[in-house]
Amino acid sequence: LGPNPGPWNRIFGLLFLDNPIGSGFSIAASPQEIPRNQLGVAEHLFIAIKKFIALDANFKSRPIYITGESYAGKYVPAIGYHILKKKESGVNLAGLAIGNGLTHPEVQVSTHAVNAYNLGLINDKQKALLEGIQSKAVDYVREERWGEATGARTKVLNTLQNMSGLATLYDFTRLIPYQDDIVAEFLSNPEAKRALGANESTVFEVCSDVVGEVLSDDVMKSVKYMVEFLVKKTRVLLYQGQCDLRDGVVSTVAWMKGLEWEGIGEFLDAEREVWRVDGKLAGYVQRWKRLSHVVVMNAGHLVPTDQPVNSQVMIEDWVLEKGLFAAQEIETQVK
Ligand SMILES: *[C@@H]1O[C@H](CO)[C@@H](O)[C@H](O)[C@H]1NC(C)=O
Ligand SMILES: *[C@@H]1O[C@H](CO)[C@@H](O)[C@H](O)[C@H]1NC(C)=O
Repeated sequence: LGPNPGPWNRIFGLLFLDNPIGSGFSIAASPQEIPRNQLGVAEHLFIAIKKFIALDANFKSRPIYITGESYAGKYVPAIGYHILKKKESGVNLAGLAIGNGLTHPEVQVSTHAVNAYNLGLINDKQKALLEGIQSKAVDYVREERWGEATGARTKVLNTLQNMSGLATLYDFTRLIPYQDDIVAEFLSNPEAKRALGANESTVFEVCSDVVGEVLSDDVMKSVKYMVEFLVKKTRVLLYQGQCDLRDGVVSTVAWMKGLEWEGIGEFLDAEREVWRVDGKLAGYVQRWKRLSHVVVMNAGHLVPTDQPVNSQVMIEDWVLEKGLFAAQEIETQVK
């Protein structure tokens, strides 16, 4: 263990939720208690957040930002939507941030082949083969054959993994996969469990197969309509590590372009700013009104792992509306 050079709780209070119930140290009494869809996930998260706020009178007025990565491309919109659809939620939601998210799978699944091809990882014949499987996944989505759609997406990723021979699709530059087994080992240490206030008899897993199975019909369902609702009411940040081949930049931009939101034209037309941290290239930022998009250089699927300091600058500046995220008072002059 070593200190994190870029913790996200330097300025802010940070609460981690093992979600959904049944994963990490969140214990489901039975598999039936694990939610099968995003409404169920949102209802649980809402209860957890409300109970947390009730612990201290000062929490009530504090702004709350919700963030997550990967499958949280579903969870984050789901809880945001649940909060903002309520008349009196009692949650002072100020923004939502998603890293390398799966949000609109029908469009995202169609981007793997061309992305890998343009990186030189596969040839034309392999691209055509992958595109065939991708089309199958899309057909299944349109026919609402959700389990088969999920299976086809898994096949796309496994086939690309085999063709490319990469250490991991989570970051095409990595020579070894992310070492999350070390995290699981640390979290199974009784001393660590005691320090976290976790149940000592719980065996921590990085990803629960039981939960994965229960949510298998949810994987290919879109929550894009939730993001469309949210971006009208609160700030939304979508950021991706540039080297992720699962839910990366191309995959995200593909569905962002199709957002049904009155600002999308202006967003797509906005300048993409070069983002530097201490004079070094850190990535790119593009934004319009409440929507921000960040590409993080030299990072894969797990941005805070790969670029701790830059990810800290990103989240702090975005929350505090500083630097490249400063309020856009010039927009009337420009237009
Ligand atoms: C990938 O390769 C492994 C090992 O050769 C094989 O067992 C598996 O079926 C392959 N998967 C796909 C989807 O091609
Ligand atoms: C810890 O987990 C075990 C097994 O799930 C359960 O029987 C026990 O009641 C839990 N203990 C506490 C303090 O929650």
